[in-house]
Amino acid sequence: MDNIISLSKVTKYYGHHCALKEISFQVKKGSLYGLLGPNGSGKSTLIHLLSGLLPFDSGACRLFDMPIQTNRQCIQKQMGIVPQEYALYEDLKAIENVMLFARLYGLDYKQAKAKVENALKKVNLWDVRNGFPYTFSGGMKKRLNIACAIVHEPKLLIMDEPTASLDPVSRDDLLQQIKDLNRQGCSILYTSHYLEEVELLCDHATILNKGMVLAEGSIPKIKQLLPYTHQISLLIDGSIRNSLEIFTRQLPIAFEPTLSNHHRIVANCNEPAKNLPLLMMQLQKQGMGILDLQISPLSLDQVFLKLIHSHE
Ligand SMILES: Nc1ncnc2c1ncn2[C@@H]1O[C@H](COP(=O)(O)OP(=O)(O)O)[C@@H](O)[C@H]1O
Ligand SMILES: [Mg+2]
Repeated sequence: MDNIISLSKVTKYYGHHCALKEISFQVKKGSLYGLLGPNGSGKSTLIHLLSGLLPFDSGACRLFDMPIQTNRQCIQKQMGIVPQEYALYEDLKAIENVMLFARLYGLDYKQAKAKVENALKKVNLWDVRNGFPYTFSGGMKKRLNIACAIVHEPKLLIMDEPTASLDPVSRDDLLQQIKDLNRQGCSILYTSHYLEEVELLCDHATILNKGMVLAEGSIPKIKQLLPYTHQISLLIDGSIRNSLEIFTRQLPIAFEPTLSNHHRIVANCNEPAKNLPLLMMQLQKQGMGILDLQISPLSLDQVFLKLIHSHE
């Protein structure tokens, strides 16, 4: 089995509202796969479908190479879900919460005991195992939710916006733990609207907007959807006198009119080592000095914004 998740033209309606329209993508075994999209794009709906909580209207959805509709129990034993909202019993201790999930997944008490300890250690909560969730920070609660989802050692972990509303330090810790889980062999479907996280963590991704797939594939492949690879930003000594287009018309460079102003030129290009000197020469000819210069590869963030805008 190569694909752990395989979706083909999956469509879901809420009444007359189409929340997912012909969604197709595959997640390979061992992958850390990003599901990206703005609020309302259908990420949680897709996760509810994958967890077997919600029926879909048409298409095919296979997990572990089995159709989801007819193999729900067998599939659920091999997967863990970290929902978008905290799903914990506040009046049970941390260790009791994880134990409860272990038993729900069908482990007997002896098996469960060892696995609960293992899961709590993996998320760094073993030392506070006797604490109650209501005394925990947001980051700790999220990690406890993850412990509940991995206690039965699933082959697939599905996480719905796990870092939403976490402070930067907790977020960093959590991302590290997600990477570690993946390294230990757990395939992960990771949902987020933070693009830099997906770029950092994931090998492949699908970008959703309004229930449709905008882009899909490896992160470098998604980035190739834009005609340029780099962004350059130049701070000019004094102010830019002529219209930018006039002196760069000859160059293979595209301006970002929304980011450029009287002192700063922001433009997208390929091969910056070749094209930047050409731009600088043009500026010098116009008598404009350069105070500061930055070159960066286009981020997934920028690709995402451009794709979303071109879809509207
Ligand atoms: N239970 C529901 N009933 C009706 N519409 C829903 C329901 N859940 C979600 N929706 C709608 O479906 C779309 C996708 O929502 P959702 O899957 O929650 O997106 P995301 O998780 O990406 O923010 C939105 O337009 C949302 O309003
Ligand atoms: Mg959601």
